Amino acid sequence: MYHFSVDSGLSKPEHYRELAAAAQALVAGEPDSVANMANLAALIWQFVPDLNWAGFYRVVDGGLVLGPFQGKAACIRIPFGQGVCGAAAASAQTQLVADVHAFPGHIACDADSRSELVVPVIHHGAVVAVIDLDSPLPARFDADDAAGIEALAQLIGPAIAS
Ligand code: SME
Repeated sequence: MYHFSVDSGLSKPEHYRELAAAAQALVAGEPDSVANMANLAALIWQFVPDLNWAGFYRVVDGGLVLGPFQGKAACIRIPFGQGVCGAAAASAQTQLVADVHAFPGHIACDADSRSELVVPVIHHGAVVAVIDLDSPLPARFDADDAAGIEALAQLIGPAIAS
């Protein structure tokens, strides 16, 4: 059993450092990428407030395929370049979207989503997955959230690449 407690008195950067430390402990020594993504999605869900979806899309045969997540059932396949996730995968750049309705081509998997943060996971120089966070609140994510999830993405590359 794992027990990670979330200290609500921390600043956002400190909070994300705690998340990164917990993530490192969770994946240490475990080679199974599905198990690691499943636990990491659960950890993000526990640590990051005001989300309606959190999880992974994996790069498979040049497109994105749904991976482990928390939240409602979601779109299974997303072509590179489509939607927020496809834009992050195609550009290898974080996408921070304050208003998903204003993002051209946004894919509405959950009608509750208002803002979204998608961060590519890069391993050996290639995008292997994206981490997707959705919130029912408009403009939920800021630069601290992006930096925190980017640090996490950097850390977990080897643990989720298969
Ligand atoms: N909204 C995403 C699709 C994935 S769901 O949010 C889980 C997008 O536009 O890529």
